[in-house]
Amino acid sequence: MNKRISFAGPSITDKEISYVLDAVQFGWYENYDNYTKKLEKAVSEYIGVNFAIATHCCTQALHLAAAALPLGEDDEVIVADFSWVATAYAVAYTGATCVFADIDPDTWTIDPESIRKAITPKTKAIMLVHTFGHPAEMDEIMAIAKEHDLFVIEDAAPALGAEYKGKKTGSFGNSSCFSFQGAKMAVSGEGGIFLTNDEEYYNRALLLANMGRTDSKAVFWSDSLGYQYTIGNLTAALALAQLERAEDLMKKKRELFQRYYDHLKDIKDIKIVKEKEDCKSNYCYPSILLPKHSREQRDHILYQLKQSNIHARPAFPRMSCFPEFEARFDNPVATMVEEKGISLPSAANMTQEDVDLVCQKLITLL
Ligand SMILES: Cc1ncc(COP(=O)(O)O)c(C=O)c1O
Repeated sequence: MNKRISFAGPSITDKEISYVLDAVQFGWYENYDNYTKKLEKAVSEYIGVNFAIATHCCTQALHLAAAALPLGEDDEVIVADFSWVATAYAVAYTGATCVFADIDPDTWTIDPESIRKAITPKTKAIMLVHTFGHPAEMDEIMAIAKEHDLFVIEDAAPALGAEYKGKKTGSFGNSSCFSFQGAKMAVSGEGGIFLTNDEEYYNRALLLANMGRTDSKAVFWSDSLGYQYTIGNLTAALALAQLERAEDLMKKKRELFQRYYDHLKDIKDIKIVKEKEDCKSNYCYPSILLPKHSREQRDHILYQLKQSNIHARPAFPRMSCFPEFEARFDNPVATMVEEKGISLPSAANMTQEDVDLVCQKLITLL
């Protein structure tokens, strides 16, 4: 049996180890948040935005983004119908209604035409996803937002380093959020970050992230309902080391993708999600569609790969079908991707030969 080929996983070097050791030894007392501060500054500078709040996870960052807008029960938010459920739950936590829009068949990111169809007088924001590291169609989305006076939240959880027309994902909307969860580009076990250029929005999010604490009337005074959402210093130390290696980590992902592409581009039963012109995907999760296969056949292929110690993943189910939500539209592209999509392994410890093996098994199974 070949070695386990994991779906995702990090590259840990002496840098990560030394930052974490430093944080665990010295990141207390007056240094209790030194790595948190450094992480927030480093991510802000890397993405090109002014304000950041590092959180325990990206779900919390997304919740801050939604709650601090603010969103409430009378509001509707247009959400891509293809994501990890955190995207939609972050909106639902505020009481706002998620209206799910379809995705583009080539990039699996939210389809601007579908956004247009979903707009009602109650629409307040668009929650897009840079799916699997491919940038959403930002020019069109920002134009729609401007035309209809909507806010834009970028769920950039897996998209660290990706670019749209030479500009980093996470720098377009009113706010954006990244994840440092263990399967993402830069990892810290769990971790996330909220970003914005708007100082008032940032201050509202900061209040929410710090239990509404202001110290205005007394030390430990809380002015409003809040959450304990700030990241720990140890976690921030690991995330910072990874962030400082972001370009290298992305280079590795892009090399793995290129090898997949070379093997699979001429296989007629496979459609590869490839970056569009003017976009730079970080290829966090290289993904393919099996247009001629049924859901059962796709699942059988995933099962057979797993029997060979190769851990690939099925595409997300549509969130609009979850019990928490109501579907307003059918979203045929998201339905098709749900049934026929696969994300291939791209863990940082993979070699080019591992990619060869995955492709060889996949082609045999097809
Ligand atoms: C698109 C997307 N949004 C949000 C999240 C939530 O991130 P976290 O696990 O850091 O809360 C994820 C995590 O997988 C994700 O893929």
